[in-house]
Amino acid sequence: MSDMSANIMRRDERQRIALTLNGRERSGHCEPRELLSDFIRHELGATGTHVGCEHGVCGACTVHVDGVAARACLMLAVQADGRRIDTVEGLAPEQTLGDLQQAFQRHHALQCGFCTAGILMSCADYLQRVPNPTEEQVREMLSGHICRCTGYTPIVAAVLDVAARRRTQADTSEVEHA
Ligand code: FES
Ligand code: FES
Repeated sequence: MSDMSANIMRRDERQRIALTLNGRERSGHCEPRELLSDFIRHELGATGTHVGCEHGVCGACTVHVDGVAARACLMLAVQADGRRIDTVEGLAPEQTLGDLQQAFQRHHALQCGFCTAGILMSCADYLQRVPNPTEEQVREMLSGHICRCTGYTPIVAAVLDVAARRRTQADTSEVEHA
């Protein structure tokens, strides 16, 4: 009979994982049961990702895993080994707000900002897939997030605004290249 215990990690045994965070190769150590959200914040220092409920309800911890929005509190850090993780810091790589963030600013779509990082990451992913959403679709998408401060109306307005601006820009560049 083979010795299975050789392959079983101890609860407190830390292991090294490597991933791509916002376009940069990063590595760090984590325990087997450590959440990705904690690893990103405490081991990699990317504290823009917030942690609220820690059981997949509030959406505050949303990041992109290989380009798709996911709850970082519902993933173990070890599951992110070798993958591409993008966080809210990646939306403003040169310390300049991206167009989605600027729309949130214009529409006063945040107050304390605790929920905002997660909402931005969901919106960024959603608008890649649905560039021309209706208000109803935006509200449906936002139903996966809890904001305690600002109310959802300005958030919806910001998302619709940035979608419209992107379409206008795309139309203009099509005309210029025609
Ligand atoms: S902290 Fe992850 S969904 Fe609330
Ligand atoms: S802006 Fe405060 S929780 Fe959403």
